[in-house]
Amino acid sequence: MINIALDGPAGSGKSTIAKAISKKLNILYLDTGAMYRALGLSAYRLGVDTKDAVAVEKILPNVDVRVKYENGSQRTYLGEEDVSEKIRENHVSMLASNVSAHQCVREKLVELQREIAKGTDCVLDGRDIGTHVLPNANYKFYVTASLEERTERRYKELIAKGQTVDKNALKEEIATRDYNDSHRKFAPLRQAEDAIYLDTSDMTADEVVAFVVSKIK
Ligand code: DC
Repeated sequence: MINIALDGPAGSGKSTIAKAISKKLNILYLDTGAMYRALGLSAYRLGVDTKDAVAVEKILPNVDVRVKYENGSQRTYLGEEDVSEKIRENHVSMLASNVSAHQCVREKLVELQREIAKGTDCVLDGRDIGTHVLPNANYKFYVTASLEERTERRYKELIAKGQTVDKNALKEEIATRDYNDSHRKFAPLRQAEDAIYLDTSDMTADEVVAFVVSKIK
């Protein structure tokens, strides 16, 4: 059994690495951020203040976040609705970060994540995979990059999808999200003691993937 944990701040390149590894090793990839995004989107649609733990807890029993695999890649659903594209809209990032701070949300989604990962060779990316979701993962990586580089990457990604974003606002938003994600009370973003630290600021995606694969082999 192989379990790989990839953690790090927004835009550090985790999902690019995870996708490449999943393909190379033919193992399942679970993007856990997508689940927080779906829940954040659902709260927003219901008119709930995503920072209000009590209000979010009230809607939780009726929020049906599902993950399916279609042609080998993850699709994220709210009930029967495929929200895989919707959750990539930039405004959903902060909604996801907000709801992810609440213990009730983390308990619900972590249970689902462990259920999906159980008994399966897999790579998971997120914020708390190595520290909390899969503490016994065989390989753990903490992937980061400078704020400037991460902003640049996220900016390019959003522009390529046809979204309009202001680069300075994006940079500020990423910094705020990093701060919130690493300072929340429950399972904050931090490097697991046994994780390999990787700063990808000056590396190409191919170099990063090659490095991670070399550690796994
Ligand atoms: O990886 P991402 O940018 O799609 O994640 C969106 C938000 O979800 C992120 O700001 C914090 C939260 N998140 C989390 O708290 N724990 C995870 N394992 C994954 C994401």
